Amino acid sequence: MVTIRPTVEPIPAFTARERPESCLIVIFGSRGDLAQRKLWPALYNLAAEGLLPENYAMVGLGRRPLTQEEFLHAVHGDLTAHSRRPPEPEVWSAFSQRLSYFTGDFDQPATFTALRETLVRLGRRYRTKGNRLFYFAVPPSATPSLLSHLREAGLIRPPRRGPWTRVILEKPFGHDLPSATALNRRVAAMLDESQVYRIDHFLAKETVQNILVFRFGNSLFEPAWNRQFIDHVQITIAEEAGVGTRGAFYEEVGAVGDMVQNHLLQLLALVAMEPPSSFDADPLRDERVKVLRSVRPLLSEEVPQVAVRGQYAGYRDEPHVAPGSVTPTYVALRLFIDNWRWQGVPFYLRTGKRLAARLTEIAIQFRSVPLCLFGSTNVCAKLLPNTLVLRIQPDEGINLSFMIKPPGARMDLEEAEMRFSYHDHFGYDPPEAYERLLLNALQGDATLFVRSDAVEEQWRIVTPLLEAWQAAPATDFPNYAPGTWGPPAADELLARDGRRWRRFSRRG
Ligand code: BG6
Repeated sequence: MVTIRPTVEPIPAFTARERPESCLIVIFGSRGDLAQRKLWPALYNLAAEGLLPENYAMVGLGRRPLTQEEFLHAVHGDLTAHSRRPPEPEVWSAFSQRLSYFTGDFDQPATFTALRETLVRLGRRYRTKGNRLFYFAVPPSATPSLLSHLREAGLIRPPRRGPWTRVILEKPFGHDLPSATALNRRVAAMLDESQVYRIDHFLAKETVQNILVFRFGNSLFEPAWNRQFIDHVQITIAEEAGVGTRGAFYEEVGAVGDMVQNHLLQLLALVAMEPPSSFDADPLRDERVKVLRSVRPLLSEEVPQVAVRGQYAGYRDEPHVAPGSVTPTYVALRLFIDNWRWQGVPFYLRTGKRLAARLTEIAIQFRSVPLCLFGSTNVCAKLLPNTLVLRIQPDEGINLSFMIKPPGARMDLEEAEMRFSYHDHFGYDPPEAYERLLLNALQGDATLFVRSDAVEEQWRIVTPLLEAWQAAPATDFPNYAPGTWGPPAADELLARDGRRWRRFSRRG
C-alpha cells in the first residue's frame, strides 16, 4: 500500500504574537567568513519567507571602505554562493533596499558617534521603533571594547519597557575557564543577561531540537533512558573539510575550543538532561546546565587515559598555521556524569577535521540481553545490542537497530533497522540553523542560546584537558591521515573499556 502524505509547508506562518517587532539589525564583521556563509543567506531566506519584521533595516559594519554598490554586489555574491535559495530578482530588490554599509575605525569613539547618527536616521526612515539587534560576528577578543564603545555612544539601552537592545555574541566565549569568567563579567557590567544571546548554532539545528521532542514527546524511550538500560553513548561530529582559510582563528581555539567545549557538550547536555518544568527558555537552560555541572571533573593525571588528541597531516601547511603547530584538529574524550540517572555510563565524544566523512550523530547503545537463548555459539555471536542513532546531519533522521530472525528453517540472527528520514518524511531538508537563531533573537526568545553559567561549566569541563596538553605538547603530530577516522589511539581509548567506535559503512 502506498501512503500519500499531505504536502508539508516548509515554514509555518506566524501568529501575530510571534512576528518579530520592527527593528534595526546591525552586523559587526559584515564581510567576514561567518557573515558571508551564514548570516546574509539566513537573513535573505527569512526575508524571502516573510519572516522578518514588517519594518526593518540592516546595516553591515566593516573596516574595509566599500561603496554601497560594492557592498550590495558582495552580499549578492554571498547569496549566490551560499544561500539555500538563490537570490530572486524581486526578493533581492526589496531586501537590498533595506541594506546599507557603514565603515570606520572601530577603535575610535568618533566612529560610534557617527554610527549612532546613522542608526537614528535609518530607524526613522524605516520606522524601526528604536529596537536594535547587534550581531558581533567578530573575534571574541573584540567584544568588550565594542560593547563599551556602543554603551558610551548611548547605543545600548537598559532592558526596561520601551525600545530594546539585544546583542548576539559568537563563540568561543573565552579560551579557558578564567578567561570565560572574565568575559562574562565584562559583558554583565554592560548588558543585562536577558539582552545577551550567545550562539551555539548546533542548538538550532532541527535535528538537535528534535532530541527533546523525541525524548519527552514519546513514552516509549524515556523509561529506558538511564543507566539501567543504556551501556554507553557515543557522540560524533566528524568533518571532511579542513580548516581552510580559518587557520589564524583555528590556531587560537583548536578542536577543544572550536567544537568540544560548545557543540559536543551541548549535545551531551540535551541527551542527558532531566525533563524541564516547561519548555520556556530558563527552565530548559537550567536543566542543560545542571547536567554540565554533574560532569565529573577530569584530573590532569588521567588525561592520557581518557582523552586523545590528533592533528591531520597537512594541517601545518594550511595558510596562517605555524609550521610546528601542536594545535589539535581531532579530539576524542570519555566523560562520566555523576548523577542518579547516568552513574557509570560512559559518554564518548569525538570530533575532527579532515576525517573520512561529514557526519554528526548521537548513538545510544543499550545494554546487551542478559543471556543468549538461541543455541549455538555461532548464532549467539551475532547477537548485538540495540542502538538508537540520532542522525543530526547530513541525511537527518533516526535509526533504531534490533535483532530479527531471518526467514528459514534454522535459528539464526540478523540485525535489522527502523529508519526515519527527514527528507523522505517531509520532502525537504531542514532549514539552516542560523535562520532559526536570527529569528529567535528578533523574537526575544533565548531558549536556543547559551546562558553565562553554561559557558562557564563548559569551560570548567575542558580546562584540565587544555592544561594537561599545554604542559605536555604533542610530539607525534601530525598523527592521522586525511580521509581516515582519526589517530589509532582513539580506537584504543574505547578498546580499553571493551568497546569500539561505530563504523560507518558509507566511507572509511
Ligand atoms: C563551527 C566551527 O562552530 O561549526 C567550525 O567553528 C565547524 O569549525 C562548524 O566547521 C560546523 O558546523 P556545521 O553546522 O557546518 O556542521
